[in-house]
Amino acid sequence: MHVCAVANQKGGVGKTTTVHNLGMALSRQMKTLLVDLDAQGNLTDACGLASTDVQASSYEVMAGDRAVPEAVFPLSNTLHLLPASRDLAVAELAFATRMGRENLLKKALLDLDYDYILLDCPPSLGLLTVNALTAAHSLLIPVQAEYYALAGLELIQQTMQSVREALNPSLSLLGVLLTFYDKRKSLNRDVAEGLRESLGDMLFSTCIRDNVALAEAPSNGKSIFEYRAKSFGAQDYGALANEFLARTRKI
Ligand SMILES: Nc1ncnc2c1ncn2[C@@H]1O[C@H](COP(=O)(O)OP(=O)(O)OP(=O)(O)O)[C@@H](O)[C@H]1O
Ligand SMILES: [Mg+2]
Repeated sequence: MHVCAVANQKGGVGKTTTVHNLGMALSRQMKTLLVDLDAQGNLTDACGLASTDVQASSYEVMAGDRAVPEAVFPLSNTLHLLPASRDLAVAELAFATRMGRENLLKKALLDLDYDYILLDCPPSLGLLTVNALTAAHSLLIPVQAEYYALAGLELIQQTMQSVREALNPSLSLLGVLLTFYDKRKSLNRDVAEGLRESLGDMLFSTCIRDNVALAEAPSNGKSIFEYRAKSFGAQDYGALANEFLARTRKI
């Protein structure tokens, strides 16, 4: 079993879109669990689940009130979702005085029967993201092709380093994923080149192009493969899945 956290404290960089579509692509070959750790519940919505359908969420699981198999929602035989609920909004406070509060998710994910678990983090470096990094074998950081991309990367990499030192020495950086890429924009090309220079192999060779179908699919409760199987978005997330499989096999 390989657990991968998809995180970046910056909002709107494609974390949720990546967890949903990469997870869908992986589930063709591998038994996969998606975990929504964001109180906004964007991943839960995108998977077509209404908040009224959510009986138990990642919050109850972290609180130790439910086991994962009781709380997951099967999207297919090989793709399951552990949904979010509004309770996550108060998780920082509710868990603040618990012993081992950084390990709650790790404990909950032990001994499950999945090949891959993808964790969709909220746009902050608070306790939920720290729980994700503590539970994970690897970190995937989506970054938008814009001027501040590199500066933002430093902060998440520092957090990764602190978690490695204090909580999870085996956490590794799987890679940085460039999203919303538009090669017609010179700024995008410059940022991509800057990232390639400073990150080398740590930048995924696959990048996710700016593609309107990716923005439309969630409102239909569908992944890109169900919504527009021939779109750039489907091509890019299909390619990412292959690169992801190759990279995780080396860890
Ligand atoms: N490559 C893309 N091209 C076009 N639109 C995209 C692309 N990736 C994501 N989007 C859209 O951009 C918005 C932000 O993406 P997403 O929700 O995945 O980001 P996020 O990092 O999870 O945001 P948050 O930090 O709020 O959780 C969404 O409306 C999504 O549908
Ligand atoms: Mg999100």
